[in-house]
Amino acid sequence: MDFRARLEALSELLGPWSELWSRSILQNWPESGAAYPDSWMSYAESLDETGERRLDQGELPGDPPASLRALLRALHPLTGLPWHQGVHGLTTAEAQGLNAKKLHEIERVLALLAPRTRAIRQAVDIGGGMGHLARLCVRTFDWTFHSIDRDAALQEKGRDWLRRDRSLPRDKLGFLHASVEDGPQSELDPFFRGRDRASIGLHTCGPLALTQIRKSQDAGFLLNVGCCYDKLDAARDYPVSRFGEAHRLPFTRYALALATRERHHKSEAEFALMKRVYAHRFAFELLARREFPEHGFVRAGDAPRALYARSFAVYARNRLERLGLETGMTDAGLEAFEVSVRPETRRLLLCHLLRDRFSRALEVVLLLDRAILLEEMGFQVELLQVFDPRLSPRNIALIARA
Ligand SMILES: C[S@@+](CC[C@H](N)C(=O)[O-])C[C@H]1O[C@@H](n2cnc3c(N)ncnc32)[C@H](O)[C@@H]1O
Repeated sequence: MDFRARLEALSELLGPWSELWSRSILQNWPESGAAYPDSWMSYAESLDETGERRLDQGELPGDPPASLRALLRALHPLTGLPWHQGVHGLTTAEAQGLNAKKLHEIERVLALLAPRTRAIRQAVDIGGGMGHLARLCVRTFDWTFHSIDRDAALQEKGRDWLRRDRSLPRDKLGFLHASVEDGPQSELDPFFRGRDRASIGLHTCGPLALTQIRKSQDAGFLLNVGCCYDKLDAARDYPVSRFGEAHRLPFTRYALALATRERHHKSEAEFALMKRVYAHRFAFELLARREFPEHGFVRAGDAPRALYARSFAVYARNRLERLGLETGMTDAGLEAFEVSVRPETRRLLLCHLLRDRFSRALEVVLLLDRAILLEEMGFQVELLQVFDPRLSPRNIALIARA
């Protein structure tokens, strides 16, 4: 794949819409809503419940405006990535201790590694947690493996597994309790150096993916699956490649959060829950603005899931109490307020559904930039979708061979 051409085309397409994807809708409301073309808004407002859900799934039911249709048509091929085919089936004994998500991931990662790592003898896993991948790589490929994690409790659980698995050669798998950081780390860096060494990072949060890439300059092979882009620092962590620098998009922390959110495959119940959460949050924000204009944007924060199933009055009282605020309104007054702002909270929802159309494209931009960095470092690079996004939404693997 020509990563540079892809990044250039995506940057050109996304740049003119940055007002939509780089800003928070809620914090900048109602100015943020004005960035959405009138034709998009009236189209979205014409959708019924089923139509909203289809829009959330990336479809454009009914009669969408030409500009929206053209944008999505152009984004589709630029965000599509080839799929890794192949599964390395695990036996029941090997799969013990893995939940459905982990099993799904490891069976695909092992299949992906097998043909690409024939020259590899040793491997290191950054954020290896309990070391499931490590133990299964030792078993499958007979590598010597070091699993690094800063969470000692997880590693202790991993050691328990190892003690129980008598058939696994003890000397092949080691747990290193350490925090992998940018800059020289004399005790860790040698594990990333050598043509017979693989560097693996599965769901490395935020900038940890970049730390892994930088540490692995002299490795024979690298596999990284990123996640939690919202933990990146937009000014420091993007772009990372020279080519990306020349095609820089105005990423903000809101854009990074959007890149992390992409989840096409919501069930009906998940979509309904999302709508409910949004309805409560948006109405709360509008209430806070009316009652406490001097406070500016009031962060309602994540509430326990069960609270969203309750009435707006119960939710609002809980949030107000947490924030140490008091409106003096009765429950009936709070409910009446929520009803009165429904047209506005629906517009807020529709803006979010439209803005979400950019999320996968933003994620792909971040990963193309990383792929190009690896090419600039001299690696041969692939970007492949490996996991079923319903089980594991951050499903794109960055693969580099020396
Ligand atoms: C999202 S989990 C992924 C765990 C495992 N790789 C997996 O796919 O199930 C991230 C792991 O990275 C570890 N971690 C995060 N930052 C780290 C750092 N700087 N150094 C070492 N481990 C880190 C965390 O303790 C956690 O176990």
